[in-house]
Amino acid sequence: MLIRRKSDLTEADVTDPAWYARRREFLQGTAALLLAAGGLRPAQAGHGGRALQYRPRPDLAAKDALTDFSDVTTYNNFYEFGTDKASPAELAGRLTTDPWSVTIDGEVARPGTYALEDILKPHGLEERIYRLRCVERWSMVIPWIGFPLADLIRRFEPTSRAKYVEFTTLYRPEEMPGQRRAVLDWPYVEGLRMDEAMHPLTLLAVGLYGEVLPNQNGAPLRLVVPWKYGFKSIKSIVRIRFTEQMPQTTWHKAAPHEYGFYANVNPAVDHPRWSQKRERRIGEFRKRKTLPFNGYAEQVAHLYAGMDLRRFF
Ligand code: MTE
Repeated sequence: MLIRRKSDLTEADVTDPAWYARRREFLQGTAALLLAAGGLRPAQAGHGGRALQYRPRPDLAAKDALTDFSDVTTYNNFYEFGTDKASPAELAGRLTTDPWSVTIDGEVARPGTYALEDILKPHGLEERIYRLRCVERWSMVIPWIGFPLADLIRRFEPTSRAKYVEFTTLYRPEEMPGQRRAVLDWPYVEGLRMDEAMHPLTLLAVGLYGEVLPNQNGAPLRLVVPWKYGFKSIKSIVRIRFTEQMPQTTWHKAAPHEYGFYANVNPAVDHPRWSQKRERRIGEFRKRKTLPFNGYAEQVAHLYAGMDLRRFF
């Protein structure tokens, strides 16, 4: 694995102490600070996490009612902390997320292992309200705070051979008890085709509901790809690798007939064990119809023009 020392970093890579101080300041900020920044309504702020400063993106805000903060943060899939929905909220608190570094490697001009602060430094944060549809037929509506993955990709300059991006979650069984059992082939790996990764809807999230991501939701850095089943939205990322070949993703390896690489939300293609036509919005009783590409077809369907979506599921 490539480790780049501070001395190899350019001016743009290195975080100056003033910025560290500022980051600490806004991480420790209050709901008042958040409100002053023109952020969220009072009812949504102040869940006890560290407040973030961000710019709302009303143009990228689903109009659906938000899922309750308590559901978003206690009904989770994060197999590193257990296979049931409650374990991540109970056990993820012990995960150390600071310090954190991310390795960027493969087909890229500026590989290296970078402190999270250096990764985040140039990127302004924005809030986008996205629907997340899990392959297990439930969905949520979450106000994410993050920045476009495309901006990070441009900064690290992938080579012309880069056709895919592979993401890897932290492997730390001491703090992630689920990894002590071979439920999945750890560490968790996900991937996107380059044009999917560069799509303006694809978000790297660092927060939700105006605050730093709770650990159970994938702190300190996770992917959110709103037109794909939730398992593509990999949590607690430590590596971003650019590849010429399609990455071998964890769920595809575990059950290739059930989980494809693309995993676009598609009510017309059933999971081998259940229909994908409907979903239960957490907090609602009556089931809803699942929409093609989770309702984002207008923005993303062109990426798959001419592809047989039954074959490339
Ligand atoms: N990332 C890792 N590392 N491990 C996981 O088990 N579960 C995925 C995805 N990312 C998962 C993961 C699945 S199946 C879903 S539905 C979403 O995370 C859930 O995200 P949430 O808990 O923030 O709602």
